[in-house]
Amino acid sequence: MLARILAPLGVLAVVLLVPSLCQDAYPYTDRNCRTDVPYPPNDPKVSTFVLNLDLNPKDRWAPLMKNKTNELKAMIGDIINLVGAFFKNKTKIVNDLDTLLGPLVYTLPQPYQDEMIGISDASGVPLGQIVLYNIFYEVFTVCTSIVAETPNGTLYHSRNLDFGLFLGWDVKNKKWELTERLRPLVVNVDYQKGGKTVAKAVHFVGYVGVLTGIKPGVITMTMNERYNIDGGFVGIFEWILGQRSEQWMGFFMRDTLVEATDYASTKTKVINAKIMSPGYIILGGNKSGEGAIIVTDREKPAYVEELDPKKGKWFVLQTNYDPVDKPPFFDDRRTSGVRCMTNTTQKAVGFGPLYNVLSTKPNLNLLTAYTAMMQVDTGYLDTFIRECPQPCYPW
Ligand SMILES: *[C@@H]1O[C@H](CO)[C@@H](O)[C@H](O)[C@H]1NC(C)=O
Ligand SMILES: *[C@@H]1O[C@H](CO)[C@@H](O)[C@H](O)[C@H]1NC(C)=O
Ligand SMILES: *[C@@H]1O[C@H](CO)[C@@H](O)[C@H](O)[C@H]1NC(C)=O
Ligand SMILES: *[C@@H]1O[C@H](CO)[C@@H](O)[C@H](O)[C@H]1NC(C)=O
Ligand SMILES: *[C@@H]1O[C@H](CO)[C@@H](O)[C@H](O)[C@H]1NC(C)=O
Repeated sequence: MLARILAPLGVLAVVLLVPSLCQDAYPYTDRNCRTDVPYPPNDPKVSTFVLNLDLNPKDRWAPLMKNKTNELKAMIGDIINLVGAFFKNKTKIVNDLDTLLGPLVYTLPQPYQDEMIGISDASGVPLGQIVLYNIFYEVFTVCTSIVAETPNGTLYHSRNLDFGLFLGWDVKNKKWELTERLRPLVVNVDYQKGGKTVAKAVHFVGYVGVLTGIKPGVITMTMNERYNIDGGFVGIFEWILGQRSEQWMGFFMRDTLVEATDYASTKTKVINAKIMSPGYIILGGNKSGEGAIIVTDREKPAYVEELDPKKGKWFVLQTNYDPVDKPPFFDDRRTSGVRCMTNTTQKAVGFGPLYNVLSTKPNLNLLTAYTAMMQVDTGYLDTFIRECPQPCYPW
């Protein structure tokens, strides 16, 4: 496994990073910020599935699973191949995973426990593999999130979701295998109670947590992964070993979204949360100044960076590095994103300009699976599947 990861990385390092030291700081960066992408764009728009919260959690996802079982199996097959490459006997590790992770589902909070059981039943994928698949998103989500406000205080929240880092470089096609597998699984989910929308979120079919969501009129939320030694894996192992005082990121995001009543109390809740994996939670409220990056940490108090439009801070932009730290030179999507936001100007902010910023390389890269666009007052959520035209940076 390690060799499999390191070999392509070594090649990438030689091909990309070394020449880059002599020329650009960052290859395949668009010199000019894109401004030519129309909105709505020509990229494929994902469909919407109504999740009926009045149904038994075991039955809620069944109609969607019927349509997407093959895509889900292909994705899980890839994950197992990657995990399996660590071990000599793949059949044995698949069996072990089912034996080890299957029962773990009964330690998970509701309704997630029953939803996963229902997804396993409807798709025929063993429960242990559904659990493994759900754990994966806790740990491997790389991205760019932006909250921006117009001069009259209207808030927009957009994000690119990049996924699959270091997992299976397809040498022939110069693509990430997992990201390829992931694109057909993206779906918008309309959470309904009594026939009324209570929240909307972008899901990967079979994953029950939330990484991107909106509660119309109230709040928008996205999560970006934060790398840390005491990271997601440690929290997950502790959970497996029986220490279960912390919350799973994706479940926390979904609970918080669905239960949100206003920006201020949601912000307090996020700041005080005890979450298993460190992360960046990006919040947008429904009026001027209500936008924040909250850095959650398993050991330290949360760090908050907030909009301050009166002082000219009309947007916050988060990638995968702490706002107080300089991003590493080989993954500086922040400088490029901030440059393009600044060039956009506050007066022009809206779906079109934001989509263009998120279409500029390297904020758009080979890991990018989707771009989601949200506007809180209208409850608007649209998600588009992304491909990065070559030559394109791998992350
Ligand atoms: C800034 O935006 C303008 C269009 O508004 C565009 O022509 C120009 O190339 C952009 N500058 C950079 C550095 O991207
Ligand atoms: C399943 O696919 C069919 C045909 O593409 C579509 O009409 C239907 O809405 C889909 N159902 C769900 C739950 O996605
Ligand atoms: C691999 O594991 C399976 C299940 O435990 C076992 O039946 C099989 O004999 C093993 N194969 C090898 C080559 O050890
Ligand atoms: C803010 O301005 C936009 C146009 O830029 C307009 O569509 C919107 O209705 C305005 N919103 C408010 C609350 O005034
Ligand atoms: C913003 O949210 C609060 C709390 O839900 C609500 O009372 C208020 O009416 C909302 N404001 C707008 C402009 O929608």
